[in-house]
Amino acid sequence: MSVLISNIGELVTNAPSDSSPGSVAPGFAALRDAALVIESGQVAWTGAACAAPAADEVVDAAGRAVLPGFVDSHAHLVFAGERSAEFASRMAGLPYSAGGIRSTVAATRAASDEQLRGNLARLAGEMLAQGTTTFECKSGYGLTVADEARSVALAAEVTTEVTYLGAHVVPPEFEQDPAGYVELVCGPMLAACAPHARWVDVFCERGAFGADEARAVLAAGAAAGLQPRVHASQLGYGPGVQVAVEAGAASADHCTFLSNGDVDALAASDTVATLLPGVEFSTRQPYPDARRLLKAGATVAIATDCNPGSCFTSSMPLCVALAVREMRMTTQEAVWAATAGGAAALRRRDVGHLGVGARADLVMLDGPSHTYLAYRPGVPQIAAVWRGGVAVA
Ligand code: NIG
Ligand code: FE
Repeated sequence: MSVLISNIGELVTNAPSDSSPGSVAPGFAALRDAALVIESGQVAWTGAACAAPAADEVVDAAGRAVLPGFVDSHAHLVFAGERSAEFASRMAGLPYSAGGIRSTVAATRAASDEQLRGNLARLAGEMLAQGTTTFECKSGYGLTVADEARSVALAAEVTTEVTYLGAHVVPPEFEQDPAGYVELVCGPMLAACAPHARWVDVFCERGAFGADEARAVLAAGAAAGLQPRVHASQLGYGPGVQVAVEAGAASADHCTFLSNGDVDALAASDTVATLLPGVEFSTRQPYPDARRLLKAGATVAIATDCNPGSCFTSSMPLCVALAVREMRMTTQEAVWAATAGGAAALRRRDVGHLGVGARADLVMLDGPSHTYLAYRPGVPQIAAVWRGGVAVA
């Protein structure tokens, strides 16, 4: 069964063969007046609408834009409870602190599997309706062996990109013994979580874990077959980016406070700088300097960081709009970062682009070009979504 999507006003492929000379965003590539054929769940053909082959079914895009599905490479979706009062106090002037995580830990520990599963399904559904076809999901609100193990197991029911984040914060019962908690994270907790996870993450920040603790967590994770990623430099300057690069992490996330050495290290490595502009929006912090990273040659991704504390949005379109308006990215750079950039941050080659052979994960916008994502902020614009070639939203 093949499906031809014809009459596409702009088809963003991010495929090298479609890039236009002098493009201001390396990697971004698009075709005008295009068509695309889906077969066996993959992109089978792309090209000019007038040259499209026949197919079993035809969908008329009526001049709308088609993009790769968004790849949200950073989300914390396994939790219970909510923290709207904390958000309101922040907007009234209180600063964000990592301490709020503990209130979600208490609610998550008290929740049943069914409650957590229901929450997760609702958020995954929200993401899909907004064009996210691949997402990463972290544990990190359980912080006991049993609660972390059920968190990664629940995450594995909804995505293959599962991250073990036992090293999110030191839980209250280990307040007097942080070293003992790191031992637990690197020992029995890791052993219980590794079978369900692909990634290991650590919140390397003052108030969470220091450089040596982070190195220990990443090394133990690697020995258990997990690949590293790091929460780095969200709340202030610190060692997180250097730790990430040294460990060969797929991604250093947040990157809000970067030294020149951090920028150079990212540019010289294949560690992606994943920026989370929804966090700065929701914590009223300064936005990371995307232009500085791009100018240096670093690979930049955009993700939501969807979580109940620092940023409770599941919307990649909102993050694209913020990246353009507040981080001075071009519309092409932001869309690339939200698709191919996210795929690079997850070391995935099958998603984030629409070259022939890619997984047929597609978003059709209610507008003629990718620019509409930033041009019409806050307006629902996802007309249709396909995942693995199947129309899902
Ligand atoms: O990425 N920085 C650490 N973790 C989350 C915040 C989680 C929370 O506040 O509950 C983040 O922003
Ligand atoms: Fe996070």
